[in-house]
This record gives sequence, structure tokens and C-alpha cells, in this order.
Amino acid sequence: MVHPAVKPLSDLLGTWKGEGEGFFPTISSFNYSEELQFTHSPNKPVIAYSQKTWNLKSGQPMHSESGYWRPKPDGTIEVVIAQSTGLVEVQKGTYDMKEGVVKLKSELVGNASKVKEITRVFKVENCELSYVVEMATSLTDLQPHLRASLKKL
Ligand code: HEM
Repeated sequence: MVHPAVKPLSDLLGTWKGEGEGFFPTISSFNYSEELQFTHSPNKPVIAYSQKTWNLKSGQPMHSESGYWRPKPDGTIEVVIAQSTGLVEVQKGTYDMKEGVVKLKSELVGNASKVKEITRVFKVENCELSYVVEMATSLTDLQPHLRASLKKL
């Protein structure tokens, strides 16, 4: 049974596949394919999250990350994410599933050489999941690094 805390976000549960693009003022833009999974163990108030990406042209593995999403009945949510680069994030935010939006802002970014802040906005609409990841570094203000759009398998 889906835990009542998870129920509002149950549209997210499942496997999603799609493509994204990455950019930032200090790097060359790139395109990637992505597979993302949200799973839930019965009666646990938590969603497990995992994501893998590949270079769209070469098929070579790129970034991956995984973590846990903990929605609260009051519409707030906390998320922890460990990235394949070694960086860790504690994200806090809100969800509004009538609008199909989850907004997250980093409360803590750890083990990072230059990343100071990360925001993530996810939108679910008509079986499509899209997101924007923004980051601020020691040299650059908060701005988009990733944009992707995925369909549920
Ligand atoms: C570059 C962070 C997700 C691929 C970077 C840089 C940072 C960074 C700090 C260096 C920017 C600079 O030198 O000024 C992050 C964070 C992510 C994330 C915090 C998630 C929240 C991803 C994902 C991919 C990716 C999902 C691949 C699909 C790249 C690539 C570069 C890069 C290819 C350029 C590397 C280079 O030119 O040396 N990222 N990244 N990143 N990122 Fe990400």
C-alpha cells in the first residue's frame, strides 16, 4: 500500500526515459539521454530516487545520482541526493501536485569543489516529467545547468 505521505506524489512513481541538454557559461553545451526511477516500499513514507545519464552521441555513461524524497503531509518535502561525482545535497522545498510541481532548493551542498547552491524544479504534466537544475558556483551566479524532459515507460 502506498503510504499516505507518498500518495500525493504517486504520479511520479515508475521509470521515466528521455533526453536533456546541459550548459553553463564556463562549459561547452552537451546533450544526454536519461533514465530515472522513483520507487516506493509499501507503507514507508519515502520515495527512492535514482538517475543515470549517457552521452547522447556516443552512448558513454555520464553523471548518475540517487537518493530519497521525503514528502510531508503539509506540502513540504526534503530530499537527499548523492552524486557520482562525490557531491552530496540536502534539498528542502515544496510540492503542489494540483499544479504538478516540486520545487527544491539546497540547504546543504557537501564535498563540492565549486558548487555553492543547487535548485531543482520538476513538473509532471500529461505523463511527461520535465525538470530544470540550476547551480551557483564560486565564479558564477545561480543559473541553469540542465534541462530535460522524460516520458513514463
Ligand atoms: C560541468 C555540477 C549534473 C555533465 C559541471 C561543473 C559543475 C557541475 C560544477 C563545472 C562548471 C565549471 O567548471 O564552471 C553539476 C551538478 C549537477 C550536475 C551540481 C547536478 C545537480 C550533471 C549531469 C551531467 C553533467 C546530469 C550529464 C548528463 C557535465 C559536463 C560538464 C559539467 C559534461 C562539463 C565538464 C567539462 O567541460 O569539463 N557540472 N553537474 N552534469 N557537467 Fe555537471
